[in-house]
Amino acid sequence: MALTRRDVLKWALEASALSAAGTPFRAFGAEAGGDRTADIPYGAAVYLPDLQTDARLGAAISRHCTRVTPVTELKWSSLRPTSGTFDFAPGDAIVGFADGHGMDVHGHTLVWHASLPDWVESITDAGEAERLMREHVATVMARYKKSVRSWDVVNEPIPDAPDGVTDRRDGYWSERLGPRHVRLAFEVAHAVDPAAMLVLNEYDVEFAVERSPAKRAAFRNLVEELLDQGAPVHAIGLQGHLRGGWPIAIDELADFVVDMRRLGLQILVTELDVQDQDLVSPADERDAVIAGQVFDFLSAVSAAGPPHSITTWGISDQYSWVRWAFPRSDGTRNRPLPLDWDFQRKPFMDVIDHFRTLRI
Ligand code: G3I
Repeated sequence: MALTRRDVLKWALEASALSAAGTPFRAFGAEAGGDRTADIPYGAAVYLPDLQTDARLGAAISRHCTRVTPVTELKWSSLRPTSGTFDFAPGDAIVGFADGHGMDVHGHTLVWHASLPDWVESITDAGEAERLMREHVATVMARYKKSVRSWDVVNEPIPDAPDGVTDRRDGYWSERLGPRHVRLAFEVAHAVDPAAMLVLNEYDVEFAVERSPAKRAAFRNLVEELLDQGAPVHAIGLQGHLRGGWPIAIDELADFVVDMRRLGLQILVTELDVQDQDLVSPADERDAVIAGQVFDFLSAVSAAGPPHSITTWGISDQYSWVRWAFPRSDGTRNRPLPLDWDFQRKPFMDVIDHFRTLRI
């Protein structure tokens, strides 16, 4: 019988009550003895200093996940301290952790308008900027070719509030190379590693309100334009930074995902978490609302079958960017991720497990 949102909310409140009473509860939707080998990969983003200072983090990731995404270590800001040097040590450390635990690494991100060192921003010549992009993509992909089999090649190409479907985000690469920089990045990446999965990654395309419908239309237009030009785009990344107060556009997102699959693209959930600063305060009630929103999002994303993978932007509330980016006015702890501050499981994790084992 198809799972419903009501099932999730009802279960989540029951499970929270049982958990609060210290009574173990069945994981939601877990098929007892199900064949988990067919599960889709679940990953978490990780920041090296957190991994190095808290052994619980590595233990939780190796227990729950089969892939990781470095939060900063494969960005220009970490890799490129000066124009003449690469700092691979942080990236090597995370790749080493993943290799040591039999996990793969999702590369984030080769070309982005943000996290660029000042020395890059100072380059204004288009020819030099193109040479720099080609050098960076070739050097970084070649180094991590064995462990990094998928890359966010271009991150966040659509402006926050597009004024039309052909609108593209301004920023360093647009200003130096124009809109062609997106196609160029994919072509260079494909030439370096023809077997790598190349992803176009975006946020805020999943909601029913605010700027999301316009952003979804502009993102769709860019994808279709790139494919018409023969750009080697293999997948789209739906970051999934869900905003607690914004409803998911379930039907529109499902239609969007079905259309993307029809274009031959894989769907990756790349940065899932829930900004809960405006949600109710009691933890158990908030966890149920969060689980419900994650359910809505993953239901729509799974409309044409399970996504390629699901990655959350961290795994424990204690190590989430949401804490400092969207603190709660009541001073209580944010609860944006599948495990709480003390690495205890929340309904969020069971909703993930449900969609990982979905059989369409
Ligand atoms: O750890 C240092 C700390 O020692 C230092 O005192 C402090 C001040 O300089 O910086 C700390 O590092 C920060 C790092 O996050 C860890 O917290 C960097 O400054 C800060 O720039 C970095 O921000 C990250 C941001 O991307 C830029 O790389 C966020 O954590 C990370 O969550 C965010 O992730 C992005 C994705 O890449 C793209 N999608 C949106 C997502 C959220 O914004």
